[in-house]
Amino acid sequence: MDIDLFETSYLHPAPAADALENLSMQIRRLVRALKKASPDHELVRSVPEYMSRRGYWQASDCLRGNNERGNDRPILDMCCGSRMFWFNKSDPRGVFSDIRSETHELCDGRALHIRPDVVADFRRMPFVNNQFPVVVFDPPHLARAGEKSWMRKKYGVLDKNTWRDDIRAGFSEAFRVLRPHGVLIFKWNETHIPIGQILPLTDHHPVIWQRTGKGDRTHWVVFVKGEHHV
Ligand SMILES: C[S@@+](CC[C@H](N)C(=O)[O-])C[C@H]1O[C@@H](n2cnc3c(N)ncnc32)[C@H](O)[C@@H]1O
Repeated sequence: MDIDLFETSYLHPAPAADALENLSMQIRRLVRALKKASPDHELVRSVPEYMSRRGYWQASDCLRGNNERGNDRPILDMCCGSRMFWFNKSDPRGVFSDIRSETHELCDGRALHIRPDVVADFRRMPFVNNQFPVVVFDPPHLARAGEKSWMRKKYGVLDKNTWRDDIRAGFSEAFRVLRPHGVLIFKWNETHIPIGQILPLTDHHPVIWQRTGKGDRTHWVVFVKGEHHV
């Protein structure tokens, strides 16, 4: 049974703000302890999600523990999806962020889990400036996909009216949260939109640029945050 403890609040007067803050801090500690003991426990994901959704925690609070421990998670994946391209999908160095948290069944019966550590929009991320040495940005690249298609489930789809502004904002956020001389790994597949329309959405210039995949349509582009970017 899914009991919503906070739904019983009508039975009691609302707790004072400092009591709520204290309670929220205790819950954070419990989640951190549970994560150490049992990283795959369902509550490790669902409690922070619940607390963020109900406005008790900012998304950034979910990461506060890492900052307290001295930034021991140096890689931000801004839109991790199901982490397909990660060697280790539970790499302890990664902060996994995406706009959605959901599970789907693929046509072959396998489950597709999109379970970010932080549910956040890459256009306005809840991280402080100059924080990460490495950022990974693999936004949706499809301009269209069937409503129920596995492509949509795996990769998401661009908004046909706002995609330029969305990707531009994503680049801007990536460079904001990157440390000076930090590395941005950007991936783009130009099945629908050529890379030539994407790179002008940032003022930064790539350091390394490699095409791969079917028809050379997938681009891996590496940027370094620094003064001399033109
Ligand atoms: C191409 S997929 C990423 C695939 C991932 N790199 C992998 O290895 O599985 C793009 C992801 O961007 C996410 N996304 C779309 N719009 C977003 C937004 N505004 N903020 C954060 N994530 C977003 C989608 O939910 C989708 O999971």
